[in-house]
This record gives sequence, structure tokens and C-alpha cells, in this order.
Amino acid sequence: MPRVLAVTSEKGGVGKSTLAVHLAGAFAERGLSTVLIDEDGRVGSSLRWAARSGETGLVQPGLGFPVLAPDEVKPKKLAAADAILIDTEGRPKRKELRRLSERADLILLPSGISALELEATRELLDFLLDSGDMGRKTRVVLTRVPPVGHAAEDARENLRDEGLTVCNTLVRQYAAYQKAAELGTLARDVRDARAAVAWADILALSRELL
Ligand SMILES: Nc1ncnc2c1ncn2[C@@H]1O[C@H](COP(=O)(O)OP(=O)(O)OP(=O)(O)O)[C@@H](O)[C@H]1O
Ligand SMILES: [Mg+2]
Repeated sequence: MPRVLAVTSEKGGVGKSTLAVHLAGAFAERGLSTVLIDEDGRVGSSLRWAARSGETGLVQPGLGFPVLAPDEVKPKKLAAADAILIDTEGRPKRKELRRLSERADLILLPSGISALELEATRELLDFLLDSGDMGRKTRVVLTRVPPVGHAAEDARENLRDEGLTVCNTLVRQYAAYQKAAELGTLARDVRDARAAVAWADILALSRELL
């Protein structure tokens, strides 16, 4: 059975699509058959990302995996996949969250480390934890964290002290991700001095998850 990983958040613009696209890329690089489903009907940023690199629905030359709209999803193809990533819109309704958690093995909550973002992430987590099964499946991923200093490590330890499950890997803030979004490719493949370190974060995170 494929492993289904959903990416969601209480706030918009925290890095969901960036994380979903890059994790899918890392799974594909590791030889796993991977599909990304873009369920963010409003923005559709994963689909747009893929569109910038070529046609959607096929395995993207620049990405290594297909990005599908929900109506393009063929159950047979999904069954053959090792990993299915779901990119969602921010601020999901509670009902949608429940539906998402029924389909997903893991719910990833990307969050920056600012007080405001952490507060929003805690709020969503509190809801998930109150709903039994959903809390067990949820992991916080600290992302867009400052590459220098210890603020991100400190935030991770504080969250863990509060009893939250936080991924060990910290996804650092690098311009390579923005360049990758503009070009419809992965941070691994952009011309940037920090492309390799950015990609190392993603690969490490992918190994933690699958
Ligand atoms: N690790 C990172 N380093 C640098 N920039 C990043 C990183 N992750 C995301 N970004 C940037 O932050 C912005 C928001 O990212 P993204 O679109 O992935 O967020 P989102 O949560 O999917 O947003 P939305 O809620 O609109 O769907 C983008 O400009 C993206 O390039
Ligand atoms: Mg998005």
C-alpha cells in the first residue's frame, strides 16, 4: 500500500507547496514511485509549479514525478505508487481536516518559528490531538528556519517539551527554493551556492518520514 502524506497548515504561505513538491522529489530520487496531488483548488501552486516545467499529469522532466489535479487521479495508478503527497490549501475547515486524516498516514504541519506561526500551528495541533487518531499521525516540520544560530533547535526542543511530535530535520531558509518555484524545478537543480545544502535538508527529512 502506498504511504499517503498530507501537508496542511493553519496559516497560508508557510511553505506547504514547497515542502510537498520537494519531498515528492526526494522520494522520487530515492527510487520510490511518487505522485503529488494538488488539492489546493484556490491557488493550485503545486500544479502551477509543475506547469512551469512542462505539461502536468505526466512525470515531470524537471521534477521526476507527476503532479495531478484531484479529477486526474486514477485509483489504479495511485495503488501502484509507493508515496502519495497531498498539497492542500491553508486554513482547512475542521470537517476537511477530518476527511484528510482518514486518507493520510501522516499529516505534516510545516511551520516557521516565529511566535505567530507557532501559535497557529499549536492551535491546529490542539484540534488534531483532541480528535484522537489524527494527533497520532501528525508531525510538525519546522521550515524556513534561519540557517544560522540556534533559534530553530530551541523552538524544536520547546515544542517537544510541550509534548508535540516535531521532525528532527530543520528545513532551512534558502533562496534556492524560491528560484526552484520560479523555474518549476527542485532546489537541487537550480544554480545557487546553497542548492546542495537545501537539498540535503529535504533528503534528510524524506528519510525520517519514509
Ligand atoms: N525553506 C524555504 N526557504 C526559503 N523560502 C521558502 C522556503 N519554503 C517556502 N519558501 C517560500 O515561502 C513562500 C511560501 O511558500 P509556499 O507557497 O510553499 O507556501 P504555502 O503554504 O503552500 O502557501 P499557500 O498557503 O498560499 O498555499 C514562497 O515564496 C516560497 O518560495
Ligand atoms: Mg501552497
